Amino acid sequence: MDDPRRLALEVLTRIERDEAFANLALASALDRADLDRRDRAFVTDLVYGTTRMRRACDHMVDRFLHDEVEPSVRSVLRMGAYQIHWGGVPAHAAVSATVAVAPRRVRGLCNAVLRRVSENEPNPPTRAIELSYPDWIIETLTADLGEADAVEALRVMNRPAPAVTREDGYHQDRASQLVSEVVADGLTNGAKVVDLCAAPGGKATAMASTGARVLAADRHQRRLNLVRSNAEGLGLDLEVVVADATQPPFRPASFDRVLVDAPCSGLGVLRRRADSRWRVTPDDVTELADLQLSMLIAALPLVASGGMLVYSVCTLTAAETTGVDEQFREATGAVPVGPPTAPWRVNGAGGLLLPQDLDAEGMAVFCYTVT
Ligand SMILES: C[S@@+](CC[C@H](N)C(=O)[O-])C[C@H]1O[C@@H](n2cnc3c(N)ncnc32)[C@H](O)[C@@H]1O
Repeated sequence: MDDPRRLALEVLTRIERDEAFANLALASALDRADLDRRDRAFVTDLVYGTTRMRRACDHMVDRFLHDEVEPSVRSVLRMGAYQIHWGGVPAHAAVSATVAVAPRRVRGLCNAVLRRVSENEPNPPTRAIELSYPDWIIETLTADLGEADAVEALRVMNRPAPAVTREDGYHQDRASQLVSEVVADGLTNGAKVVDLCAAPGGKATAMASTGARVLAADRHQRRLNLVRSNAEGLGLDLEVVVADATQPPFRPASFDRVLVDAPCSGLGVLRRRADSRWRVTPDDVTELADLQLSMLIAALPLVASGGMLVYSVCTLTAAETTGVDEQFREATGAVPVGPPTAPWRVNGAGGLLLPQDLDAEGMAVFCYTVT
C-alpha cells in the first residue's frame, strides 16, 4: 500500500515545479496508486487543501526559513503547515509523518521548521494572506460585492464542494441547476434551444430532459465529445455542433431560448478548482468580459419573437456580470427581463448566487426578452 503523504507530496511538487494542473496531476497519481477510499480522500484533501492555502502556508513557513528552498522541500513544508493549522491533523503526527516523506538530506531542516510552525499561531498580517488568495482577488471582490459578502464567499471557497447529483444521476452543482431552470422556465415541449457554449453539457442535458429540442454548440471539438457522451449516458437526444459563439452559424430568429454560458474567470467556482486562484489574472477578467460581450451581441439575433436570451457566468466580478450587461444593453437596446426570484439575489438587472447562499457555486445570470 502506498503512503498517502508521499503521494500527495509527489503531486504537490509536480504542481509547484512543473505548473501541472492540480486536478489532472491528482487524478493520474490516484489512478496509479494502491490506496483505499479513506487514503484517497486524505491525499485529495492534502493536495487541494495545501494548494488552496498555499499563500497562508508560505507565510507561516517563511518566518522560519533563512534561504529559499527547492520546490520539493517547499512542498513538504507547505503540506506540513496545512495539516497543522488547517487540515485538522494533530501537530505531532503531522510533523513526524510529513518529515518521514521528505527527501532524506533535508529531513533535519523540515523537522526544525515544522516544529516551529506547530508552536506558533499563523497571525496573518493581511486578509489576503489569512484567506490565502492573491491580493487582486480580495480587492476586486471586496469592491464588487462589499467586504462582508466577499470575505464570506472567499472563506466558503476554501472548503471542498459538496457532491451533488441530479435526479437523472448527472453530477451538477445546485447553482448550475438553477441556471438551467431559469432558461427552461416557461418553455413548452419541443421548443428550440441553443446552448452556444455547451461543453461539458451540464445545462444542455438538463434542458433536454425537460422535453426541449436542444442544440449544443461549443468551439472545442474535444470538449464537445464530452457533451455527446454525457447525453448518450443519460439516454438524451441532443444535437451537437462545433461553432464559435462570436460567429454562430445559425439562422436568425430560429430559437425560443439562446443560452450564452460564457467562458469566464471562474471566481465563483474556486472551491472546485484548487489552483485556479493562482492562475487567473486581472487581464483575463478584462479579456473575458470583452469576449462575453461579443458573444451576446452575436447571440441576440438568433432569438425568435417571444423568446429569451440568457447570459450566465460562474464568476463574481462586476466586470463580467453587471458590466457586460450594461454594455450589451447600451450596444443593442436589449430588454432585460429583470432578476430571477429567490434564492437569486438581485444584481443590477440580473441575479447572483454567492457560494455561501446554497453552499454551492457562485453564479450570475441575466435574461433578455425579444418581442
Ligand atoms: C462555462 S463553460 C460551459 C459550461 C456548460 N454550459 C455546462 O453547463 O456544462 C464555457 C464553454 O465555452 C467554450 N468556449 C470558449 N470559447 C468559445 C467560443 N468562442 N465559442 C463557443 N464556445 C466557446 C469552452 O470550450 C467551454 O466549454
